[in-house]
Amino acid sequence: MAKVNLLFALFLFFFFFFIPCLCCPEDQKQALLQFKSSFIRASNTSSDDPSFGLASWNSSSDCCQDWDRVICSSSQPIAVTGLYLDTLVLMPSLLEPVSVSAGVLTPLFLVKSLMFLDISSNYIHGEIPRNGFANLSRLVHLDMMQNNFSGSIPPEIFHLRNLQYLDMSSNQLTGNLSREVDSLQNLKVLTLESNLLQGNITEEIGNLSKLQQLSLRGNRFFGGIPSSILNLKELQKLDLRENFLSMEIPNKIGELTNMTALALSGNRLSGGIPSSMQKLDKLESLRLENNLLSGEIPSWLFDFRNLKDLFFGGNNLKWNNSAKVVPKCMLSQLSMKSCGLAGRIPDWISTQKGLVLLDLSENKLEGPFPLWLAELDVGNLFLSDNRLSGSLPSRLFQSLSLSVLSLSRNNFSGELPENVGDAINLMILMLAKNNFSGKIPRSLSTIYRLLLLDLAKNRFSGKPPVFHPDALLAVIDFSYNQLSGEVPVTFSVETRILTLGNNNFSGNLPWNLTNLSKLEHLDLEDNKITGEFPGFLSQISTLQVLILRNNSLQGTIPDKISNLTSLRILDVSSNNLTGKIPAKLGELVGMIQTPNTFSSTSEVFTFAVGYDLVVNWKKSKQGLSSHSLDIYSLLDLSANKLCGEIPVSLGALKGLKLLNVSYNSLSGNIPPSLGNLQSLESLDLSHNQLSGSIPETLTKLQELTNLDVSNNQLKGKIPVGGQMDTMNNPEYYANNSGLCGMQIQEPCPTEPPAKQEEDENEASLFQWEGVGIGYSAGFFLTVVIMFFTGYFRLASPPFHSRRRQNGMSSVT
Ligand SMILES: *[C@@H]1O[C@H](CO)[C@@H](O)[C@H](O)[C@H]1NC(C)=O
Ligand SMILES: *[C@@H]1O[C@H](CO)[C@@H](O)[C@H](O)[C@H]1NC(C)=O
Ligand SMILES: *[C@@H]1O[C@H](CO)[C@@H](O)[C@H](O)[C@H]1NC(C)=O
Ligand SMILES: *[C@@H]1O[C@H](CO)[C@@H](O)[C@H](O)[C@H]1NC(C)=O
Ligand SMILES: *[C@@H]1O[C@H](CO)[C@@H](O)[C@H](O)[C@H]1NC(C)=O
Ligand SMILES: *[C@@H]1O[C@H](CO)[C@@H](O)[C@H](O)[C@H]1NC(C)=O
Ligand SMILES: *[C@@H]1O[C@H](CO)[C@@H](O)[C@H](O)[C@H]1NC(C)=O
Ligand SMILES: *[C@@H]1O[C@H](CO)[C@@H](O)[C@H](O)[C@H]1NC(C)=O
Ligand SMILES: *[C@@H]1O[C@H](CO)[C@@H](O)[C@H](O)[C@H]1NC(C)=O
Ligand SMILES: *[C@@H]1O[C@H](CO)[C@@H](O)[C@H](O)[C@H]1NC(C)=O
Ligand SMILES: *[C@@H]1O[C@H](CO)[C@@H](O)[C@H](O)[C@H]1NC(C)=O
Ligand SMILES: *[C@@H]1O[C@H](CO)[C@@H](O)[C@H](O)[C@H]1NC(C)=O
Repeated sequence: MAKVNLLFALFLFFFFFFIPCLCCPEDQKQALLQFKSSFIRASNTSSDDPSFGLASWNSSSDCCQDWDRVICSSSQPIAVTGLYLDTLVLMPSLLEPVSVSAGVLTPLFLVKSLMFLDISSNYIHGEIPRNGFANLSRLVHLDMMQNNFSGSIPPEIFHLRNLQYLDMSSNQLTGNLSREVDSLQNLKVLTLESNLLQGNITEEIGNLSKLQQLSLRGNRFFGGIPSSILNLKELQKLDLRENFLSMEIPNKIGELTNMTALALSGNRLSGGIPSSMQKLDKLESLRLENNLLSGEIPSWLFDFRNLKDLFFGGNNLKWNNSAKVVPKCMLSQLSMKSCGLAGRIPDWISTQKGLVLLDLSENKLEGPFPLWLAELDVGNLFLSDNRLSGSLPSRLFQSLSLSVLSLSRNNFSGELPENVGDAINLMILMLAKNNFSGKIPRSLSTIYRLLLLDLAKNRFSGKPPVFHPDALLAVIDFSYNQLSGEVPVTFSVETRILTLGNNNFSGNLPWNLTNLSKLEHLDLEDNKITGEFPGFLSQISTLQVLILRNNSLQGTIPDKISNLTSLRILDVSSNNLTGKIPAKLGELVGMIQTPNTFSSTSEVFTFAVGYDLVVNWKKSKQGLSSHSLDIYSLLDLSANKLCGEIPVSLGALKGLKLLNVSYNSLSGNIPPSLGNLQSLESLDLSHNQLSGSIPETLTKLQELTNLDVSNNQLKGKIPVGGQMDTMNNPEYYANNSGLCGMQIQEPCPTEPPAKQEEDENEASLFQWEGVGIGYSAGFFLTVVIMFFTGYFRLASPPFHSRRRQNGMSSVT
């Protein structure tokens, strides 16, 4: 009793004598107010704005008691110990982020009592001030993620002896992982994701013996995984994804028995899966996909009772197809992409009732789509690139979980079930290159969330369904089917890519195609479209790619086509177009700029977009890979009935890689301005009535690898010098009116014939191969990106670093 009284007396004592001092120290208050005002100045926000995170900070109130986001010590001496300064300004839009310079941090370095500092998600840019962190020696938790810090991590941070949590992910930091990491002896969590750090992961990492979580994801670390990592006995999560790490996984990795999540995907790790891993019996997530691992896939991988996520596809690992698997785990994600699975889809997978993602693509699976698989209600199902056959069970689409279904490049056949539309949460449907036939079910058009629909290379016939203009559908590929009727235009206004080539569409191109006001890529090649050249397309100002090849269009190419300032690829070859080539074509801005920009948004979809744009490239049909980062610019007007001269203005299209005006009735001289087409690799002027001589200026074309001027009325000396010396295939000069020169071993009257022999060796310089050609559509608005990044986070993609093998595969 006496003891309690004594405590009570003590309490009263403190209450009356120390309450006035429960306020924050004046110097810290001033420092924080200084931080606030410099942040307001730098971000140009208004302090009255209620959405501004520091609205409650004012000089007349107490920073410990009245201010949001401030934590003070609860005992004497009262001081600020925690600052939760994340997301101070809500981003008005992703495209115009508020940008604050790193100098705003300076006042915080006066608050020496800080133990917890979260300054994440503020888009602060510039170098982190070097000395400041030396002042914050009590820091335990430091979160600087999702800013835009550049330069290297100040070494002072590595001298913070009490630090237990360090997150610097998603910045623009560079430089080595400092050798000084060994001074962070008490660190429990280290996250340095996506900072472009480079170099080896130093052995000193093993000094951080208290570490429980380590993430160096998305940097540029190379070399092996340091063996000192085995010293980190308390490690629970290790994430080294998306670096350039090579050599083998440390043999004794199984000694880290506290490990629950091990993620090594997207590196160049080789060797087998170490058998010591069997000891990691707390594993919940194991990600080894997209490395160079080899050897047999051990069946004990399925013995971890807590395992939820298992990714080992995309290696050189081999599955023992006669092995009996009795999984002890209940997986939610499983990737066994390209693991040599053969025969039926393994039925032990049917025991995995909670699967959200299943990737069995790029194997040799055959047989029908099992009913049990349809009944599993998997959310993201990838079975592409196998040999599966038969029709799809309608049960598959009764799933409300189904969000991504990829069955491309199999032998599935029959009609698509009428109830496709029951899968109302479907976002991506890829069925390309199968044997599906019949009509495209109407119910497909009722799936509001559908973003990507790829039905290319099947035998679908009839008219495609009418999609709702308010749908989200952005990518549609119906090419290489047997669809017929008028060209359908009833798609979502969100449509970015519309590929209807190689079908039987006929009639005039409907004017209401212009309703698709966000269209970037329109491909209608190889149909039976008639009527005048669709000049109204000039109203779709977003168009980048327009392919009308091999139809029956007539009339002239209208001047207003030059309105399409984004147009980079225009192919109207093999039609019945007449009149002159409009000089206005020389104003196509998209073909003038040397293409170097590309929208990273396209990357979001490249994994999925199976279509490759096909053009006539240097005499043969070639697929332009949508996966390449380069943007190519082409103008193909060949095989029409165009007449008149080649406009001098075409010489302005400096971004062009290919110019083909062959098989027309063009006359007059070859304009010397074509020598200004500095990016040009292929120039085809053949089968016209061009006269005069080949202009000397063509020797300026340093990228030229293909020149055809045959079947014209050209004469005189073929220019010598530069790439022209290697343009020596006589066929490409044939049927003219007296061309001469060393290229065709036809001495010109005035030239001494002695030089010929020497040049002969250079013929081998001619290069056909090795010329990559790529095309990448820059598409998709932020909303769609966010949709997808959201999805990616949910189902961290095994396909993230998937590359198609043949960027430039020959099509015919
Ligand atoms: C700051 O914001 C005001 C309006 O809020 C705007 O008029 C001004 O241009 C902005 N200044 C800068 C530098 O962004
Ligand atoms: C300062 O903030 C407190 C609450 O945090 C508020 O009651 C007071 O009115 C504010 N004073 C001024 C001058 O804005
Ligand atoms: C560290 O704190 C001292 C005051 O104790 C201050 O003078 C100095 O400027 C601080 N360092 C930095 C880099 O802010
Ligand atoms: C971040 O910095 C990079 C270059 O350092 C810049 O391209 C990018 O726009 C910046 N991002 C933001 C959101 O400020
Ligand atoms: C990384 O460290 C190595 C040697 O420790 C050094 O040669 C290299 O220049 C450093 N790289 C950077 C970007 O600091
Ligand atoms: C850190 O590790 C390295 C080698 O792994 C060792 O030489 C060094 O002494 C260690 N430093 C500390 C502070 O333990
Ligand atoms: C560091 O990286 C280099 C270059 O890749 C490599 O040769 C070397 O073996 C690496 N060192 C270690 C310890 O992994
Ligand atoms: C696992 O971590 C605990 C501390 O969290 C540690 O005591 C134990 O030694 C670790 N296990 C192993 C096998 O090192
Ligand atoms: C494959 O598994 C079967 C059954 O478990 C086994 O008998 C056979 O030896 C294994 N094959 C290889 C190459 O390990
Ligand atoms: C297209 O426009 C024509 C009239 O120009 C109209 O009759 C037709 O219904 C429209 N089609 C669609 C799908 O909007
Ligand atoms: C040219 O493009 C603009 C939009 O950029 C469009 O409003 C206009 O109708 C187009 N003009 C023609 C003649 O198509
Ligand atoms: C072009 O028109 C002629 C007749 O005018 C016709 O015979 C020919 O088939 C047409 N070519 C194409 C590709 O439509």
